[in-house]
Amino acid sequence: MAAKKSASKKSASKKSSPKRGDDGRYPETKILSALFDVKDGWKLAVAKKHGAYKNLEKALKSMSPAEVIDEVKTSRVRGRGGAGFPTGVKWSFVPTETDKPKYLVLNADESEPGTFKDRWLMELDPHLVLEGCLLCAYATGVSTIYIYVRGEYPLSQERLWGAIHEARKAGLLGDKIMGTDFSCEAYVHTGAGAYICGEETGMLESLEGKRGHPRIKPPFPAVEGAFGCPTVINNVETLAHVPSIIEHGGQWFADMGIAPDPDNPRALGSSGTKLMGLSGDIKTPGCWEFEFGITVRELIEQYGGGALEGRTIKAVIPGGLSMPVLTADELDVPMGFDALVKVGSGLGTGTAIVMDDACDMVEACENIAHFFADESCGQCTPCREGCHWMEKIFTRIKAGDGTPADLDLLERLFINIEGRTICALADAAVWPLRSILRKFRHEFLAKMPGHTDPHEKDPHAEDPKASSEPAAVGAN
Ligand SMILES: Cc1cc2nc3c(=O)[nH]c(=O)nc-3n(C[C@H](O)[C@H](O)[C@H](O)COP(=O)(O)O)c2cc1C
Ligand code: SF4
Repeated sequence: MAAKKSASKKSASKKSSPKRGDDGRYPETKILSALFDVKDGWKLAVAKKHGAYKNLEKALKSMSPAEVIDEVKTSRVRGRGGAGFPTGVKWSFVPTETDKPKYLVLNADESEPGTFKDRWLMELDPHLVLEGCLLCAYATGVSTIYIYVRGEYPLSQERLWGAIHEARKAGLLGDKIMGTDFSCEAYVHTGAGAYICGEETGMLESLEGKRGHPRIKPPFPAVEGAFGCPTVINNVETLAHVPSIIEHGGQWFADMGIAPDPDNPRALGSSGTKLMGLSGDIKTPGCWEFEFGITVRELIEQYGGGALEGRTIKAVIPGGLSMPVLTADELDVPMGFDALVKVGSGLGTGTAIVMDDACDMVEACENIAHFFADESCGQCTPCREGCHWMEKIFTRIKAGDGTPADLDLLERLFINIEGRTICALADAAVWPLRSILRKFRHEFLAKMPGHTDPHEKDPHAEDPKASSEPAAVGAN
């Protein structure tokens, strides 16, 4: 027991983020993206030349399912779909002894605004995605894989179906894969373009042919998921990491990126690499792969080319749309799970949305509230009514008809929406809106006629990094 403890301390203290170059540039590390620039890398013949399926063969012929799970646990890889749950731990929740069939549902819905990393993987290296799925299926005893791809991604669907047909023909999918006892089938299921179908249980309902209404948890999908059977649900990028973890070992992956904080049991670290993206008011939007450690500012300046001509950056939402905003002064923070939480935001999907000084924050809030109001599935009153109500208030403020009382009303709405619903869509609406309102309050006040001092200090703005409920408003 004691030996185990000191071993984990040792790996926890290891720090191996790649060195910046002489010019200060943070380097790319191409593991997931190794085939992105290779011509026809999505075809089996080309992918195989670059090692596709050799790690599946290694696992099937020399490792037990439990050993595969152990490697993934050792790697400390965390889910790349937004919540950052440890993948190996999730897999170990799937019951081994059960009479029911087990399923893997790959979350390829990629419905988060500003997020396009999974699309790149599916379009440019679909065999890596399929190999990751097969490794997960082998480890967890799954014989049917459903890949749930959003309707707006026709090329992803085409490339994945192409990969499935090619793999089946080559004996890499179907009955007795590579001559072993492992048999598994894969199918692409197309969504109809609803944000809520990216939420894992909404996705299961949709897969079963019903409305994408999230389910109350527990039971969790690992125990009762698709068709009432044990189901693993993972994001595309998460499973695309598994082949290289099997190739080099979990410790190799764990030694990359940002180590866990031994003094904080909740800071599980950010191991490995991550596809990170940029969109919005930026010179060169795009997607790159880095070992965790690059800061938000480095990503924007070194890879995004900085602000548009004549503009300055005002705010950044680091992880899709659903995370609290960072101001221009807060960008020297690593793009990592724990580091971003520490400054009151979150990694989310790791694809940042940049806003410059031409962006009207009231309009931005109206736009964000409209998105969530439109995408709410309507099951929970705080979400169904609250998102529309917030949108109406932002529209009113934008039109010049708002008063400072509207800002208090919004704070009360945030409290009555966050954490009070079946799924996290409602929280995802509150986080960016509340942080924008607190950090850019002067822009809201400036639109209120008769308000003489738009920069007046406000009690809600005292701790702009706080994301928890404001006690003063809660007491009202
Ligand atoms: C409203 C909402 C939308 C979501 N959309 C996606 C999505 O498009 N893709 C995704 O992988 N996860 C999405 N998630 C997270 C999933 O519910 C789930 O946590 C994830 O697929 C688990 O995979 P991972 O552990 O590999 O990250 C969403 C969650 C919520 C609340
Ligand atoms: S929080 Fe919103 S989207 Fe999620 S289940 Fe409730 S109403 Fe539906």
